[in-house]
Amino acid sequence: MAQPSIFDQILDPANRANPYPLYAELRETPVTRQPDGTYVISTYDEIVALLHDPRVSSDPRCHPELADAPPALEAGLPGLPLTFINLDPPEHDRLRELAMRPFGPPCTPGRVEGMRTWLAEVANELIDDFAGKNRVDLVDDFAYPLPVTAICRLLGVPREDERRFHHWADAIVANLDPTTGTFAERQHRRARVEVELGEYLNGLVEAHARRPGDDLISGMLTDTGPHAPMSRADLVSTAVLLLVAGHETTVNLIANGMLTLLRHPEVLSRLRDEPDLAIPLVEELLRYEPPVQMRTNRSTLADIPIGGTTIPKGSPLALMLAAGDRDPARFPDPDRFDPDRAGNAHLGFGSGIHYCYGAPLARVEAQVALPLLVRRLQNPRLVADPPPYRPNAELRGPRHLLVDFDTVA
Ligand code: HEM
Repeated sequence: MAQPSIFDQILDPANRANPYPLYAELRETPVTRQPDGTYVISTYDEIVALLHDPRVSSDPRCHPELADAPPALEAGLPGLPLTFINLDPPEHDRLRELAMRPFGPPCTPGRVEGMRTWLAEVANELIDDFAGKNRVDLVDDFAYPLPVTAICRLLGVPREDERRFHHWADAIVANLDPTTGTFAERQHRRARVEVELGEYLNGLVEAHARRPGDDLISGMLTDTGPHAPMSRADLVSTAVLLLVAGHETTVNLIANGMLTLLRHPEVLSRLRDEPDLAIPLVEELLRYEPPVQMRTNRSTLADIPIGGTTIPKGSPLALMLAAGDRDPARFPDPDRFDPDRAGNAHLGFGSGIHYCYGAPLARVEAQVALPLLVRRLQNPRLVADPPPYRPNAELRGPRHLLVDFDTVA
């Protein structure tokens, strides 16, 4: 039998716990063409160049494999317009600007900073629930509920509805996981969730239109700036995008973060004593164990010469962000986890026009969560190393992270 391609090996769940040696092999040839016609790009400079190249499209209607297929979940609900993660300029820029304006420039750090206090309250409440136990699953019991609560607050979901939102968020993530049933079962569940979520969000938009609050949906509804207002359909689509794009990614950042800290006890004890270390530490985590390992939603709109080859027009691309983040040509000693690393221009949030919209929020969530966990869990220990991983090659993170501890402070 033929040896599987490197790309197949990366996609193989058996390599999920440590794909980095495979990425190193891949980087030996910065641009490779896979048997299925996908061009895999694995070196930092080439990835950045393509992320900034207007001849590279994120629109599934331009993607050779997706053109006739139903749009991916991240593209929105059936019957609703594509969201800006899957659009090219000028539509991308218009919708992204409308989604950002209620916060001022980039989903503003200022506004998100205001969320730091209540995020700490939510995180502390979750940790309070660990009292009396000696073992928890940091994925299910902590990393999971925190980002959904954050997105609910951002969108203005009333507190009494948060539980329903958690249910939909769980169902969306479960349906992305190929081990949770047959394809048909997952499609069926997905359709049910989408209908419920779509109906709920329509109702939420109507409620905010009647009585605007201090939240993102109200901000988009009452916007009077250029290109405003956003259509109702775009608004519902954008709300779904934020839930999908901001949920499992943040779960994985927190879970990968605790796993990395437990594997580096000297950094863990430093963080306990110096909570401000969380700021560079989270950046290093986004480089060292990025929740988004690759982007496969791109395709070329023209022939593009790069990395010693010419990628023909109409080719699907796989941009291996996590391989770029370990490229020794860009990051000295790249396999070392070093929160003091200087010039850490990682690709954890992408780069270029699609740079993560929620980056300020994701950063604050992790910067709040990790110091609280290491301060409050006394003598934390990993139960299994490596932990079981979700079988998703694009979004990489543990399915469970069981941790034993003596007491909760
Ligand atoms: C885009 C990573 C959290 C909303 C992206 C991209 C990456 C990324 C790599 C670029 C996608 C591309 O180039 O195609 C992450 C990580 C997160 C995180 C690692 C958590 C640790 C969030 C949160 C939100 C969010 C909390 C919402 C509040 C978005 C949106 C886009 C995006 C809307 C599309 C931006 C555009 O197309 O202009 N994210 N993200 N993300 N992210 Fe995040």
